[in-house]
Amino acid sequence: MIRIDIATLFPDMCESYLSESIVGRGRKAGHIDIRCHNIRDYAGNKHNRVDDKAYGGGTGMVMQAQPIYDCITAIKQEIGTSPRIIYMSPQGRVLTQDIVKELAGEDSLIILCGHYEGVDQRVLDELGAEEISVGDYVLTGGELPALILSDAIARLQDGVLPNSDAYSIESHYNGLLEHPQYTRPEIWHDRAVPGVLLTGAHDAVAKWQEETALEVTRRKRPDMLYDHRTDGEPYARYIRVFVPHKEREYDIVAFMKMIFHRRILTNREQKILKRMMPVLDSLPTPPEYPEQSQDVTIWLKAKNAGHILDMYAPLFDMLREHDIDYRIEYSDTPSGVHVAENDNFTVFA
Ligand SMILES: C[S@@+](CC[C@H](N)C(=O)[O-])C[C@H]1O[C@@H](n2cnc3c(N)ncnc32)[C@H](O)[C@@H]1O
Repeated sequence: MIRIDIATLFPDMCESYLSESIVGRGRKAGHIDIRCHNIRDYAGNKHNRVDDKAYGGGTGMVMQAQPIYDCITAIKQEIGTSPRIIYMSPQGRVLTQDIVKELAGEDSLIILCGHYEGVDQRVLDELGAEEISVGDYVLTGGELPALILSDAIARLQDGVLPNSDAYSIESHYNGLLEHPQYTRPEIWHDRAVPGVLLTGAHDAVAKWQEETALEVTRRKRPDMLYDHRTDGEPYARYIRVFVPHKEREYDIVAFMKMIFHRRILTNREQKILKRMMPVLDSLPTPPEYPEQSQDVTIWLKAKNAGHILDMYAPLFDMLREHDIDYRIEYSDTPSGVHVAENDNFTVFA
C-alpha cells in the first residue's frame, strides 16, 4: 500500500475531497494511506506567517522556505525514509498516465502544494523536489493538482477499484482512448445501443471494443497515434518483420524459430530470444520448418510502431550481427484469420 503525504496550507480543502467516494472508501478500507499536513503548523512565529514579499518586487507573496522544510522533515521522520518529493508546479513535467503508473509503484510520496506566487526556490533545491504540472495553465494553488495526482495514483492501488480491468482498459493506460460506454435503456431518444454489445458474445464484444477504441483515438486524438521518438513513424499497432532467406521471405518469428531450432544462435542469443518470444514455445514445431512457416504469420503487437521497435531492439541487433537483412511492414489491421494472441503477439493463419 502506498502512503502519500500532502503538505499544504489548506489541509481541510484536500481532506474534504479525499474523504468522499472511491478514494474515501479506499482510504477507510486501508487500500491507500493519504495524510494531509498543514505547513502553517511549522510557521515558527506568533503570527503564523508562512509567506513574504518577493525579492526583486512583484505583486504576490512567496511561501517561505523554512516552514516547508520543517514540515517535510517532520513527515520524513514520521515515515522513517526519504521518499520522492513532488512539487506541484505549472513548470513541471506534464502529468500523464505513464507518470501516474510510475509513481503508483512507490512505497511513499510527499506532495508539496504551492500557493500565491509559488515557493522559495531554495527549499525546492534543498529538498531535491521533482516538479509535476497538471497542464499548461496556472491555478491559484497546488491543492487541486495534488488531489488530481493522488486520485490518479489511488485508483491504481490494489483494492481501490474492483479489479485491474477497471483501470487497465481505460483511456491512456495503453496508449489509446477507451471505447464508448452505454447503459440501459437499449433505446433512448431513438438512439440504439450498438447491437454487438447486446449479444453477450465475448469475443465479438472485445473485438468491437478494440476497433472502436482505435477509431475514437484516431478521430479525437490523432496525436496519440504517432510515436514521436521514431520521428513520426506512422501509427501501427502491429508490425511484421520479413527476412529474405534463400530467395524466399519468412516472417520474423517463423524465421527465428527456424534458426533457433537449427542452433545457429549462441546460447546468449537463444536466451534473449526465448525471453522476448514466449510464442516460440507455444507454436507448433514441425520437423520441416520453412514450409510450415508460410502458414503462420505473427504480427508483433504493441501500443504503436515505436514501442515495438524498442521492445524488439535486441532482436534487430541480433539480425544485424548475423548480417541478416530484414524488412518491416507496419499495419493497424493485420491480415489473415485470427488464431490466437497474447500481450505481444497476434497469430494469423
Ligand atoms: C499561481 S501558482 C504560481 C505560479 C508561478 N508563479 C509561475 O508562474 O510558475 C501557485 C501554485 O499553484 C500551483 N499550480 C498552479 N498551476 C499549476 C499547474 N498547472 N500544475 C501544478 N501546480 C500548479 C503550484 O503549486 C504553484 O506554486
